[in-house]
Amino acid sequence: MLIIGIAGGTGSGKTTVARSVIERLGAGEEVTFISQDNYYKDHSHLSMAERGAINYDHPFAFDNELLIEHLKQLKSGQAAHAPVYDFTVHARSTTETTLLRPNHIIIIEGLHVLSDENLRQHLDIKVFVDTDPDVRILRRVLRDIEERGRTIQSIHQQYLTTVKPMHEAFIEPSKKYADLIIPEGGHNEVGIQLLAVLTEKYLTGEKWTGA
Ligand code: CTP
Repeated sequence: MLIIGIAGGTGSGKTTVARSVIERLGAGEEVTFISQDNYYKDHSHLSMAERGAINYDHPFAFDNELLIEHLKQLKSGQAAHAPVYDFTVHARSTTETTLLRPNHIIIIEGLHVLSDENLRQHLDIKVFVDTDPDVRILRRVLRDIEERGRTIQSIHQQYLTTVKPMHEAFIEPSKKYADLIIPEGGHNEVGIQLLAVLTEKYLTGEKWTGA
């Protein structure tokens, strides 16, 4: 099993890179895709105002223990049930889970995939998507308004109080752990192709000198 971790700041294009690699792997190849976002700790016991005030960009906002537990299950050949997170209400779904199958390739994307040492130890290829902050915030504004039910005022406030400082304290420094840095994320054809070729090499059993 090959486990690829893709980290990067908010709006950097982590999901696009992951999806593009999966597309290029060719028909029939099954890849298990995991978003660290689904492992946000559940705060459904708090009021909406309290939930809105939480720092969602600190590494402790995530239930990485559960994520690592699921990775171990997959590695031992068992399926796992990932939680499903609803950003519009800042809470875990009480009814839905996503089935994770123990495929040859597992791709995990998320803000803190490289900043957590315990999680890092499970990764065979570590990728950091490095996109300019102005591009990332513009994408985030559009996405948060269109998909996450946010206002421009709340995005402005959250970005300055938690998103930016946590990015600078934890996410940007985690870049040093990457094997591969992909500038400009989803637009970097060569970077995506490189990752896809490396992954394919593993699948076809060619000599693999990875970690
Ligand atoms: N977040 C939020 N409200 C929550 C939980 C998380 O606003 N209840 C925000 C955090 O502030 C964090 C972001 O969600 O910065 C994490 O998602 P992001 O990395 O932006 O999304 P992806 O689609 O995974 O990233 P990319 O655009 O790189 O594909």
